[in-house]
Amino acid sequence: MISNLSLIVAVDSQKGIGKNNDLMWNLPADMRFFKATTKGHVVIMGRKNYESIPEKYRPLDGRTNIVLSRQADFKAPNCLVFSSLEECLNKLSLLPSQKAFIIGGAQIYKLALESNLVDEVFITQIDKAYGADTFFPEFDTSSFHKELLFTQNADNQHNASFEVYRFIKST
Ligand SMILES: NC(=O)c1ccc[n+]([C@@H]2O[C@H](COP(=O)([O-])OP(=O)(O)OC[C@H]3O[C@@H](n4cnc5c(N)ncnc54)[C@H](OP(=O)(O)O)[C@@H]3O)[C@@H](O)[C@H]2O)c1
Repeated sequence: MISNLSLIVAVDSQKGIGKNNDLMWNLPADMRFFKATTKGHVVIMGRKNYESIPEKYRPLDGRTNIVLSRQADFKAPNCLVFSSLEECLNKLSLLPSQKAFIIGGAQIYKLALESNLVDEVFITQIDKAYGADTFFPEFDTSSFHKELLFTQNADNQHNASFEVYRFIKST
């Protein structure tokens, strides 16, 4: 059984996370951070996020991929599919070295934050607005300690600067 969750997200300056069921930016340093942070762990995603990942990249390699869908017959090759977060958390157990990461999208972030089980949040804060149609939900940081992990300047590979923060539950 899983009793605590980590969450990882990249947001633009308007808390936007996606548009037309896709990401809106190509920021290689953030991609590398996402991969390094989640590698070896369990990643939990919504059906739409799963479908937004190009077929050649899914399931995300080196991670146990879990897809949440209410469709009884939804199939995601080489992934586990659950019909609720509760069922997923009850049925799954982690290795001692493993964390369970909520990797979005918006509906699944909301579900996880409302469960009160999220005790670690990684947020990439991008310093640019991209005109999103999907947004990160309300996140009450009052019981979290905030730590800046690193910053990335805009350069020829990154069309915007960003900062990566880790929030860790302090109570
Ligand atoms: N910037 C980032 O870090 C980041 C990360 C991830 C995704 N994204 C973006 O986010 C967008 C997708 O987000 P989204 O909110 O539209 O979709 P989503 O959260 O990825 O997926 C929604 C789907 O999850 C399933 N679901 C929702 N609540 C459920 C529940 N309580 N129990 C079981 N299944 C449930 C449903 O699937 P069924 O309809 O099959 O029942 C629902 O349609 C895309 O633009 C993507 O690129 C951004």
